[in-house]
Amino acid sequence: WKKETVSVTFVCSDGTKLKVDAAVGDNLLDVVIDNDVDLDGFGACEGTLACSTCHLVFDKADYDRLPSEPCDEELDMLDLAYGITDTSRLGCQVIVSKDMEGLVVSVPAGVADAREPS
Ligand code: FES
Repeated sequence: WKKETVSVTFVCSDGTKLKVDAAVGDNLLDVVIDNDVDLDGFGACEGTLACSTCHLVFDKADYDRLPSEPCDEELDMLDLAYGITDTSRLGCQVIVSKDMEGLVVSVPAGVADAREPS
């Protein structure tokens, strides 16, 4: 039995595109880890909503159809993220669903780890 996957592309700040198979039901931080996507400092708190290094930027259309709304904790943490946009989410809080096939997300240029003084 193989996990159902959809293809997700991470676009790095230097324009590099990394296309991976994302398992449905995993969050986007799991996807980065499972696929050894090389993103510097990404997911520093391992999905415990204590950093903002898993910040990802979605296209408006994709953002609007994400299955879950950000919770207050996520919004608070996003406020601390580097280069936040109206369509920013924390990757560890976004669960991959079947209708995300072909999703493209941008990885902001910088990370701000909320656990460290800047
Ligand atoms: Fe730290 Fe998502 S990995 S908030």
